[in-house]
Amino acid sequence: EDSVLEARFQARIDAEEKIEPNDWMPAAYRRTLVRQISQHAHSEIIGMQPEGNWITRAPSLRRKAALLAKVQDEGGHGMYLYAAAETLGVSREELVEQLLSGKAKYSSIFNYPTLNWADIGAIGWLVDGAAIMNQIPLCRCSYGPYARAMIRVCKEESFHQRQGYELMLTLCRGTPEQKAMAQDALNRWWWPSLMMFGPSDTESVHSGQTMVWKIKRFSNDELRQKFIDATVPQGHFLGLTFPDPDLAFNETTGHWEHGEIDWSEFARVVAGDGPCNRQRLAAKRKAEADGAWVREAALAHADKRRQRQAA
Ligand code: 3HC
Repeated sequence: EDSVLEARFQARIDAEEKIEPNDWMPAAYRRTLVRQISQHAHSEIIGMQPEGNWITRAPSLRRKAALLAKVQDEGGHGMYLYAAAETLGVSREELVEQLLSGKAKYSSIFNYPTLNWADIGAIGWLVDGAAIMNQIPLCRCSYGPYARAMIRVCKEESFHQRQGYELMLTLCRGTPEQKAMAQDALNRWWWPSLMMFGPSDTESVHSGQTMVWKIKRFSNDELRQKFIDATVPQGHFLGLTFPDPDLAFNETTGHWEHGEIDWSEFARVVAGDGPCNRQRLAAKRKAEADGAWVREAALAHADKRRQRQAA
């Protein structure tokens, strides 16, 4: 019986049909979507911390307004994604508990410190640039609610990337000290940004299956290469150099070849031993505790309204 249902399901996927919450789906399809969408949501929420750190120290009102808008957007992206995950039958409380207990992952990139204002530019340019590369194909993901959440997210991400690149351009056209700050930020954010795309294809656990189900449309290495090919010329336009002595353009393939990624660093950060992992989770636990009264008040208010309407 199940094999007939699975065959019918795969035929729908192959026909590029969107799978909706009430449709039949293999348990493993549901499980891998809850895994990926919830960890995507966790990444958005935790990602508010490194950037939020500089809102009160932005160098001008214009920069503060752009950063404030960006951090608020990330919070909103987290909400869309938790809502998409809930359509698969999990509760937001359960997902947040998995994050707070350390059971669930979030993107390694947010475990690095933002040491100065140039980091805000590097994050917008590189981290949001990488996120766009990864999220545009997700707009065509086979699961309807996730694909639709991504369409909205991608519109806002392009503003994040542009404001970051413009900030870097301003620094690179500024004093020698400002250009040195931009170069230092690129040196610290380049390799961790490449790790955002996940392990190499040979090491990827889920890619095989999630590509058959058209959740993942391109492999980790394909998207990483697209990001490198698009970003290296942007860095050269800024007058910056990349912290990779092996970076070289291959005229035959048309791609930028690069040095080996430090997968031991990647594994350490993902395992919870990155520069800021403990600080990020501690801040999130505190925010969750400080916000408990707001959630309780909202639930009590909702109960009262239901009772009034029922009366
Ligand atoms: N950080 C932490 N964990 C990572 C990771 C990273 N950079 N890359 C991979 N992993 C984890 C995977 O989650 C998986 O562990 P799990 O089984 O416990 O979930 C394991 O490493 C093996 O990796 P796979 O390649 O097999 O896993 P996936 O097929 O899920 O691919 C992914 C990883 C490409 C990140 C994919 O999950 C994905 O596309 N997720 C949606 C996009 C996303 O989450 N982006 C994170 C950044 S969000 C962001 O940038 C916000 C922006 O606004 C700034």
